Amino acid sequence: MTTVRDSEDFSPALRATMVNDLRAMGAITSDRVAHAVSTVPRHRFVPDQPLEAVYAADHAVVIKRDDQGTATSSLSSAHIQSVMLEQAEITPGMRVLEIGSGGYNAALIAELVGDDGAVVSVDIDPQIADRARACLNSVGYERVKVVVGDAEHGVPGEDAFDRIIVTAGAWDIPPAWRTQLAPAGRLVVPLRLKGITRSIAFETEGEELTSVSYRLSGFVPMQGDGQHHERVYPVGDHGSWGLRTDDDTFDIAASELRAALERPRLEQPSGTVFDLPDELELFLLASHPQMMMLHARPTLIEQRAFAASAGRGVPALVRGGSFAYRTKRENADVGGFETVVIAHGPAAEQVAAEYLGLLRCWARDHRRRGAATIRYIPVGHLAPTDGAISKRHGTVAITWH
Ligand SMILES: C[S@@+](CC[C@H](N)C(=O)[O-])C[C@H]1O[C@@H](n2cnc3c(N)ncnc32)[C@H](O)[C@@H]1O
Repeated sequence: MTTVRDSEDFSPALRATMVNDLRAMGAITSDRVAHAVSTVPRHRFVPDQPLEAVYAADHAVVIKRDDQGTATSSLSSAHIQSVMLEQAEITPGMRVLEIGSGGYNAALIAELVGDDGAVVSVDIDPQIADRARACLNSVGYERVKVVVGDAEHGVPGEDAFDRIIVTAGAWDIPPAWRTQLAPAGRLVVPLRLKGITRSIAFETEGEELTSVSYRLSGFVPMQGDGQHHERVYPVGDHGSWGLRTDDDTFDIAASELRAALERPRLEQPSGTVFDLPDELELFLLASHPQMMMLHARPTLIEQRAFAASAGRGVPALVRGGSFAYRTKRENADVGGFETVVIAHGPAAEQVAAEYLGLLRCWARDHRRRGAATIRYIPVGHLAPTDGAISKRHGTVAITWH
């Protein structure tokens, strides 16, 4: 194990390897982000960690946990940090707000904005802010301003920002983020949508925000006034499987669904190739109000009660005591893996047919990266109902091209 004490000679080489890996993974696409990641000594922000782990492209380090052991702050993986910096398209001289501190990402942003730009990083946890301040000073990034506060309310006293990068999982977009964004600004936010997270780069269009890109991501949840507890409805005994949904009013027929799982399953091949699972997941969740994330414990996968997809979490269409979800099967005829629908319950045929219809629609019309446009329409403005996800301060509307 190489530690920080004997690291100085090795870290530039480790950074160069990490940058190559991040380029190969498609996380880094510009020389400017590559240069920033090559420059900032990531290990100095987590000095007690093995260097190999710190410089692994996809490795996050937990910095703090709450009393229940849940992570409340982490050094995010270099992969998602690079993805979000590319989404932000930061150029020299910009003013950038980072929501959620740690120090490392703010140092990367400082490299991107240069001496003429400004970086403000805000964290709700004074301990994390102090730690970030100390790390930044020790590496020479005194020019980054670190403040303590609940970012739900923006950063009072600061002018508008050209970029706002949120590094905690947000359930909603509070009005303060829109008002503190410069007119041609860009907000990059990991937004929770029906139990999944996508890092979305938004630009303003009148009162609305419209996506220019979105990518798969996951983050520790936002705390403070904007925190939101998603509901997982337990269905199986002792929470062995359940359904995650945003909709508090949704009536889950738990005992009927439990009974449905005991009945023989219906399996229907879709004839469509299975790929781009993250795009398909977003499409399915956004295309049906009764589509929600199904999660099952590993024991139920081992017992073959559920297909493996349920272990990772999969969109399920739920109607009363019946439900359908998707899995994949090897099938050379479709060129690799085929999507297969599994359905249970008295209306298995009906929910399977609905699910198959959505899969075929996606495969025919939208099966590519970036086919969705995600809009955020604040409360008080006319929002569509199709593909709409209600939030406290507005509506997320997703359309597919
Ligand atoms: C993933 S960590 C940030 C990582 C950091 N950007 C880095 O470079 O390593 C998320 C942070 O968001 C902070 N946070 C959560 N809710 C917040 C809120 N409402 N306002 C400000 N910070 C918040 C947490 O305290 C946590 O430190």
